[in-house]
Amino acid sequence: MKIGICSDHAGFQYKEKLIAYMTKKGYEMVNFGTDSEVSMDYSDVAHPLAYAVEKGEVDLGIALCGTGNGMAMTLNHHKGIRAGLAWNSEIGKLVKEHNNANVLVMPARFISYRMAQNIVNTWLETAFAGGRHQRRIEKIPCE
Ligand code: RB5
Repeated sequence: MKIGICSDHAGFQYKEKLIAYMTKKGYEMVNFGTDSEVSMDYSDVAHPLAYAVEKGEVDLGIALCGTGNGMAMTLNHHKGIRAGLAWNSEIGKLVKEHNNANVLVMPARFISYRMAQNIVNTWLETAFAGGRHQRRIEKIPCE
């Protein structure tokens, strides 16, 4: 599985560690930046990741910023993206099971790295439940 990943400066350290960790687990990781802890604008990396998910160039995406909100807001402007913010494993599970999030967003300044690992693992291991949740996600897009 090919996973795109991006962060701003606040999520940079966790992004780098997750790339190493996920690569070791056998995932093909595509890094959309940023490449340092120098202050930058999350949207500059969130849009390229979103386009790659929408085009099918990567199967799923992971995005990190300080609170997760800037990334989630930017990503969710894309019609083909359901970006879900998760800050613990239970929400990491539900954001796939109920919302079928194709991009997982995490608040790097408010969770430990171990928690970020756990959230990613849970999200990847969980299947979308479909049924009533399929109907609900179909009602998300607007004109
Ligand atoms: C950066 O200071 C911070 O604003 C950013 O990481 C994020 O939390 C924005 O939503």
